[in-house]
Amino acid sequence: MVMRTHDGSAGDVDHHRIGSGYASYRRPDERIAHVIAQALGDAGTVLNVGAGTGSYETAARTITAVEPSLAMRAQRPARLATAIDAVAEDLPFADGEFDASMTLFSVHQWSDAEAGLREMRRVTCGPVVVLTCDPARVRDFWLYEYAPDVLETEARRYPPLDRLTTALGGSTSIQPVPIPLDCTDGFNEAYYGRPELLLDPAARQACSAWSFIDDHARQAFDTSLRRALGSGSWDEAFGHLRNRPTYDGSLVLLRSTP
Ligand SMILES: C[S@@+](CC[C@H](N)C(=O)[O-])C[C@H]1O[C@@H](n2cnc3c(N)ncnc32)[C@H](O)[C@@H]1O
Repeated sequence: MVMRTHDGSAGDVDHHRIGSGYASYRRPDERIAHVIAQALGDAGTVLNVGAGTGSYETAARTITAVEPSLAMRAQRPARLATAIDAVAEDLPFADGEFDASMTLFSVHQWSDAEAGLREMRRVTCGPVVVLTCDPARVRDFWLYEYAPDVLETEARRYPPLDRLTTALGGSTSIQPVPIPLDCTDGFNEAYYGRPELLLDPAARQACSAWSFIDDHARQAFDTSLRRALGSGSWDEAFGHLRNRPTYDGSLVLLRSTP
């Protein structure tokens, strides 16, 4: 059984506590949207699981959104479909009801990722699309030098890709997703060339991994990154990233067909 908080949050974080600024800092990025759209192909009906504030939902398709957290549902723009209060692990839909389904930046929070993906496969006749991070690559990011606990948390939370592909069954392709320098969707690696933006506590709060470390560790990160930026040592080591148009980090897109 999936445990839920007062807000309905069903994963490993309480979005009532950390989700208030999500829609402002996690705006859909059009380049990532294009990659998702290609993976969904010509699907007319699409299920979005862990839909949050509705990023990457488009009027060009009939979207059904599932989102357990009230704090996240409340931030959905009025033009989008009202999200259904349910969890990935127990989807209230018939077998094969949707042409395609997607789950974006969500599967690492679920209490049982495999059960959720099996449910998505069950209710979908076409592709199941999963945007997630490869835990084997998250520590490669420069942030690991300044906030190792945050990326250790990420490496622990993101399910290994082979677990996801096994749960999905059928045939799954895995595609790295390049992150644009001015990415509007503020997950940690989106700031690869703009380190100053990670000094904003609200930007960090929009990435749930930061909620797993305490105030002392967050303060230590702030102090050490500020010092490295002030002394020029960050730029000496990583300044080349300020002009790199895209970054190949841990972001990947899985596309599974039956
Ligand atoms: C980082 S947010 C991503 C939201 C949105 N997909 C996006 O791309 O911005 C993760 C979302 O997954 C949802 N979530 C967590 N556990 C879940 C579960 N077991 N079933 C469905 N959604 C879940 C959270 O409530 C949250 O809204």
